Amino acid sequence: MTDSARHGPEIGRFGDSLSAVGAALDEFARFDRPDPVSRRDEWTARLNRDLPRDGLEIDDVLAELLEVVVPNGDRIPEPGFWGFITTGPTTMSVSAASAALLAAPQRYGITAFNLVEELSLRWLGELCGLGPHMLGVYSSGGSVANLVALGAARQWSWEQVGVDPARHGVGGQRVAVYASEEVHHTIQRSCAVLGIGREAVRRIAVDRDQQMVPASLEAAMAVDRAADVLPLAVVASAGTTNTGAIDPMRAIGEVAKAAGTWFHVDGAYGLPGILDPRVRERYDGLELADSAIVDPHKWLSAPVGIGATFVRDRSILHRAFTQEPADYLEGAMDSAEDIVSSLDEIGIPYYDFGVELSAPPRGVQVWSIILEEGLRGLQQRVMRDNDFARLVADFAREHPRLESLTEPQLSIACIRYVPAALPVDDLDVFNAALLRRLIHETRFLPSSTVVNDCYAIRPCFINPRTTSDDVEEFLTTLVDLGDRMVADLP
Ligand SMILES: Cc1ncc(COP(=O)(O)O)c(C=O)c1O
Repeated sequence: MTDSARHGPEIGRFGDSLSAVGAALDEFARFDRPDPVSRRDEWTARLNRDLPRDGLEIDDVLAELLEVVVPNGDRIPEPGFWGFITTGPTTMSVSAASAALLAAPQRYGITAFNLVEELSLRWLGELCGLGPHMLGVYSSGGSVANLVALGAARQWSWEQVGVDPARHGVGGQRVAVYASEEVHHTIQRSCAVLGIGREAVRRIAVDRDQQMVPASLEAAMAVDRAADVLPLAVVASAGTTNTGAIDPMRAIGEVAKAAGTWFHVDGAYGLPGILDPRVRERYDGLELADSAIVDPHKWLSAPVGIGATFVRDRSILHRAFTQEPADYLEGAMDSAEDIVSSLDEIGIPYYDFGVELSAPPRGVQVWSIILEEGLRGLQQRVMRDNDFARLVADFAREHPRLESLTEPQLSIACIRYVPAALPVDDLDVFNAALLRRLIHETRFLPSSTVVNDCYAIRPCFINPRTTSDDVEEFLTTLVDLGDRMVADLP
């Protein structure tokens, strides 16, 4: 036996390894360690080795993983992390993801994983208020989900004028995509990747509540129409990244429909907000959407790497994204007369509905979350998170040294500390310093944004580990820290 055979990888004993990983994760989830940066020299020195010539025993690798890597992981899952729009996954979804890594490395074939891929898309669409006519495909997150949706829009729009852009490419004709000033920048990047160009995105004005103004949309489309610019898509945000604003969907959708233009809804973060009956009417008009996206790895707390695009008719995705038949693929899997093997059929060709061929089954994670929490549990979670944002905004409105900069529409609050003595310009600098100190000195980790030209401290509540005690303690901590900073001012 050669040395390399002796050091072949361990391919069994999952119970031993995963229970050790599970124990380390339980320890990690106590969140009582200092920030990994405080020990950076130590873990950098232990991990930074040259390319190993010979492998180690699995127990030694596991020990390094569990003792050095895991304890110095991310702070995102902590109960006080409310930055950006990202969250830590639940126990069930981590378990489902781990199981899928071996039991179904791909999403294809006649398997239970393949079945729940489609089933979970149906459940997800239904719980997000999309009609049964909207069919989905998973991808790695909102960036790719928007790309896939706009790829469908590009395909459809050019087909209306007799061109197949995926087959022949396009050029010459000027085109435009319409989205609000607050739209997520993945829309611009999708346009860049699709050959539409970032500059084709018309940034439509928003009102004081950060919602797109439909009359401005109409006006921008009219200017382009007069200049013979082809309108490719109108994009509404169902929950903007900055403030959680929901664009007036019916009004925008009707402008798009009247112009014969594809209507896309970016609900990467906010589409599950429709579960809250107190805000549901803001989603009125969602049924006009030709495409919509939602990221289970945001509000539903799936592990990162799961977005979903929904369209009325997946054949448009096929035309936009087909890689053309491949001998090794279709020939190997399709059209067995009698199905006797899971390899007799590839199943739904998700690989032709987006930009990934190899892809893990993501549905099993979404399926496990929905099965564990049910519609009612997810609704309670969404309502609780929306309540947290309202609690923060109300507290700030009533507090003499805080100000609420928005009326939260979903689970994002935007507030700032306002000391009596500082001039307005310095408020931005003061609040940026306050946020830095909050992050450096406390367990509360919101992020920031700018609202109506004011710097805002912005907690986004989608973290399943957050409790109302955390939110209340955050508010008193913020005021205390702000007061101390004011006392230290020269
Ligand atoms: C509204 C919106 N769309 C798209 C994205 C991009 O999603 P991802 O980070 O999953 O690629 C985000 C990210 O926060 C978002 O908030």
